[in-house]
Amino acid sequence: MKTNWLIGGLAGVFALGALAFVQGGGAEGEAIAAESGQPIAFPHDQHAGSEAGQNNMNCQFCHFSAERSVDAGIPPVSTCWGCHQVVQGTTPEQQAEISKIQEYVEHGDPIPWNRIYKISDHAHFPHMRHVNAGLECQQCHGEVQEMGVLSERDPVWGGDNMGWCVDCHRQPDPETGLQQASTDCAVCHY
Ligand code: HEC
Ligand code: HEC
Ligand code: HEC
Ligand code: HEC
Ligand code: HEC
Repeated sequence: MKTNWLIGGLAGVFALGALAFVQGGGAEGEAIAAESGQPIAFPHDQHAGSEAGQNNMNCQFCHFSAERSVDAGIPPVSTCWGCHQVVQGTTPEQQAEISKIQEYVEHGDPIPWNRIYKISDHAHFPHMRHVNAGLECQQCHGEVQEMGVLSERDPVWGGDNMGWCVDCHRQPDPETGLQQASTDCAVCHY
């Protein structure tokens, strides 16, 4: 247990180094992008939605490290470019947003996404432990596949509130009847 956790922690450190987050990134461009504070108005519903005509992509196609690392991971611009070299959009608004992808590729810059969900540095949240325990992304992040551009915290979000974490950890494990996860201070604060 301890060893796994250590390896997971180290993997997380490397994953963090590769993340493309830049605080306070540019918010010029189209109205929606500006309003959301994101550099590109990236709509989750058009990529991960399940309704007819939408693309129904698996969350982990883009959030590639959720089951093996502390961080879920944000896709590099090459993931976007893999489709958007061909998919240019139909409306002028879509085309304007999508053309920004090419600019980032040409300049060799990561897209400076603004981080939305974040807990304080004194607490640690390992995605892989939760994903491997069978929890769905939606239990914590809400119905992301139905959301347009993410800009605000989802109402179900409670990650900046210790009680939210501890309440779930205290729930009994269906098999053993014991609490399903530790509430020792040191598992989350170290
Ligand atoms: C095509 C790639 C792609 C797919 C598929 C995708 N996402 Fe994302 N996701 C992104 C990008 C890019 C961002 C950063 C921009 C933003 O916040 O919208 C992001 C951001 C997020 C964030 C906020 C991260 C933060 O800044 O705190 C959450 C939560 C999230 N995605 C969950 C999901 C879930 C759940 C699914 C599946 C239902 C999913 N995503 C599917 C690309 C994707
Ligand atoms: C698997 C293919 C695929 C990947 C990967 C992908 N997209 Fe898309 N994206 C699409 C499709 C299909 C559409 C719908 C475009 C249309 O209707 O013409 C779309 C639409 C969009 C739009 C326009 C939405 C609107 O309504 O204005 C933006 C912006 C966008 N994608 C950005 C991104 C970004 C940024 C990434 C990387 C994080 C990304 N996409 C990754 C396939 C993809
Ligand atoms: C048990 C609750 C929980 C589950 C389940 C969960 N997350 Fe998270 N997620 C969080 C918390 C808490 C944070 C903030 C972590 C931090 O600040 O260190 C977060 C942050 C993120 C981020 C932003 C930074 C990063 O790369 O980690 C993304 C993207 C994300 N989650 C996507 C997902 C996806 C996709 C899934 C499903 C595969 C998922 N999450 C499952 C609670 C959860
Ligand atoms: C399951 C994970 C978890 C456990 C167990 C846990 N904490 Fe926390 N704690 C958190 C998170 C998450 C926050 C909020 C971080 C933030 O502000 O984003 C927090 C916040 C705090 C704060 C800051 C004040 C506050 O309430 O926001 C203190 C002090 C604290 N914890 C002490 C403790 C002590 C003492 C224990 C053991 C009795 C403990 N924690 C157990 C996750 C945990
Ligand atoms: C919806 C339920 C749920 C929520 C919310 C949740 N967790 Fe967990 N967490 C779990 C489960 C279940 C496990 C046990 C996984 C396992 O057995 O490996 C776990 C395991 C963990 C572990 C590993 C514990 C160990 O013994 O090594 C840490 C650390 C952790 N969670 C931190 C957090 C923090 C911090 C938050 C809040 C930001 C949080 N969790 C919110 C369900 C949850």
